[in-house]
Amino acid sequence: MRYVCPICGYVYDEEKEGRAFLEIADNWFCPICGAPGSVFTAETPQVSQTVGDAAEAESSEQISFGEFAALCSNLARGCEKQYQDEEAALYRRLAVYFTSISPKAEGKELADLAAGLRRDLEQHYPALREAAEKVRDRGTLRICVWGEKVTRMLLALVERYQKEGPAFLENTFVWVCTICGFIFIGENPPELCPVCKVPAGKFEKVEGRRSA
Ligand SMILES: [Fe+2]
Repeated sequence: MRYVCPICGYVYDEEKEGRAFLEIADNWFCPICGAPGSVFTAETPQVSQTVGDAAEAESSEQISFGEFAALCSNLARGCEKQYQDEEAALYRRLAVYFTSISPKAEGKELADLAAGLRRDLEQHYPALREAAEKVRDRGTLRICVWGEKVTRMLLALVERYQKEGPAFLENTFVWVCTICGFIFIGENPPELCPVCKVPAGKFEKVEGRRSA
């Protein structure tokens, strides 16, 4: 059996490695992008079916104003990076509008963030992808591909933080790809972003501590 990293596409081939993936998955990380083994998926052809089901489920559910604001803000950034200034400006205006009518989030915790990220992956991205496919919007489809990978990594990091607490970020740095938003925890950023393939220079150090 082969297991694939949903972030960078790295493949763990049990036959070549000589070890069952599930035996090591809990304490193993992707050698390319650092994603935990727990997010790897077995190589099967069933993914598109799941996505289709999720898209259907989404059609009967409301997306909150805050989620719309975040989505529009991300789309604005995506358009900006593709030199689509007019579209970027429109998405930015939408993001400002949805933020202004969004109720203030109070008492939210890490578990709520994780739940939101899961909803994005299971419902919102598939719905966006379906809409983009209908109008053949290749730019948005590309943003969906990047966004899903980045969100999957973010969820893996939030889950790890929930398990390990602040110790997880001690003696290390947090790097964010300024192009796609991919987050990497480590001493140095990866040579190439595993999602959008830009070089290490496009990563910004945003947080992280080093003990004295
Ligand atoms: Fe990137």
